[in-house]
Amino acid sequence: MKQLLSEDEIRGGIHRLAAQLTERYRDRPLTVIGVLTGSMVLVADLIRQLDLPLRVGVIQVRSYRGAATTPGPLEINDSMLPDIRGRDVLLVDDIFDTGHTLARLIEQMHELGPSSLRSAVLLRKLGRQQVSIEPDYVAFNIPDVFVVGYGLDYQDAYRHLPYVAALDDDDLAAGPLA
Ligand code: XMP
Repeated sequence: MKQLLSEDEIRGGIHRLAAQLTERYRDRPLTVIGVLTGSMVLVADLIRQLDLPLRVGVIQVRSYRGAATTPGPLEINDSMLPDIRGRDVLLVDDIFDTGHTLARLIEQMHELGPSSLRSAVLLRKLGRQQVSIEPDYVAFNIPDVFVVGYGLDYQDAYRHLPYVAALDDDDLAAGPLA
């Protein structure tokens, strides 16, 4: 496992992101929607730096299954989503990879009538996108490697790491509990 972003670098990236968002929304109330489970750590750190009237909610998406690092069919569970009609909404996800997850979420959430809907991600993998949309805010661009830590998992492990690390093929083959 090779460290890609240190705790300090992540802290700096979140600080810059929070400053951009605070400036963008000024004193307008914002509803932050975190995409479970990968954005948990990011949302916890980001919201504490947002100097805005704030609501927080979550939506759940499952795309990666079991040992696979390639996406399976998407399952979206919006039963925990608060009412977003007429609100300024920021969707927060851990990583923008092919982009299918964010594209689907944005499409579905638009139907709920928010007055605005923007998106922010911690990481954007370079050269992987298969959709025409882009996140409105990106803290870091990274190369095309499988990453874990700071909320991101491999087979449900590593989410608690305070840094972001890349797994190589041997790490992936060995699995998280080896
Ligand atoms: P897409 O391809 O739809 O993927 O943009 C977004 C979701 O896929 C997961 N994902 C990853 N998870 N390391 C992970 O732990 C990765 O390198 C990675 N790439 C994609 C993640 O759940 C993200 O929300």
